Amino acid sequence: MDKKLRKVIIAGNWKMNMTPCEAEEAVKKTAALTEGKDGCEVVLCVPFIDIPAAVNAAKGTNVKIGAQNVHFEEKGAFTGEVSAKMLVESGIEYVIVGHSERRQYFGETDETVNKRTKAALNAGLKVIMCLGEVLEERQAGITSEIVSMQTKLDLAGISDELIKNVIIAYEPVWAIGTGLTATPDQAEEVCCLIRKVVEGLYGKETADGMTIQYGGSMNDKNAADLLGKYNVDGGLIGGASLVPEKFASIVEAAQ
Ligand code: PGA
Repeated sequence: MDKKLRKVIIAGNWKMNMTPCEAEEAVKKTAALTEGKDGCEVVLCVPFIDIPAAVNAAKGTNVKIGAQNVHFEEKGAFTGEVSAKMLVESGIEYVIVGHSERRQYFGETDETVNKRTKAALNAGLKVIMCLGEVLEERQAGITSEIVSMQTKLDLAGISDELIKNVIIAYEPVWAIGTGLTATPDQAEEVCCLIRKVVEGLYGKETADGMTIQYGGSMNDKNAADLLGKYNVDGGLIGGASLVPEKFASIVEAAQ
């Protein structure tokens, strides 16, 4: 399949940064700087508390607002959690699930990632599902085993119809927030492997059409080389997404 036929998505992951006032300003600035850049989808995944301000600021622009997590139950006694229905009603289109920081610090497992993904998809959200190996796994030469396993477990039981709303973000954990980026060849190798695993599960057409992002210290300097790779269809960007000018440069590189 021609890479150009796949949807390119450049998504910012603000993590626990930006107050609602700061969010409003940053969304407006990002929207102004990326206006008319229709070669890719532009998404900003913001803290829950910023959602109303961000959604409002993004109205009428090409910026879509996403969330950074979602609970798998519809409602009930889950203090501190937010449901998929709440996100949809708040104007959210995308949600990150399974980010390595959730896995590392908040006990997220492949099982909960799978449950959250299903709940989000069933509510009509698009899911940016994150996976990737830690440094010890790469050094032990088991990156492909780990990534294949995560892909299969995280996608378990998702239907042929709902898989169309899944974006996979390959994020080598050793590259997140460290300034260490996977080389374009390393990113390509693993994104290609993920596509093969998806092909085994859902067939060639679905795998060929899936957007697979790279994430991990992507910035305005290295984005063009990473995004130039055949199997890399976008980026999930942390640090650089907090600076609208830098984020806009990455969007520009994706055109
Ligand atoms: P980073 O974060 O760009 O700051 O490395 C990426 C991510 O955590 O999604």
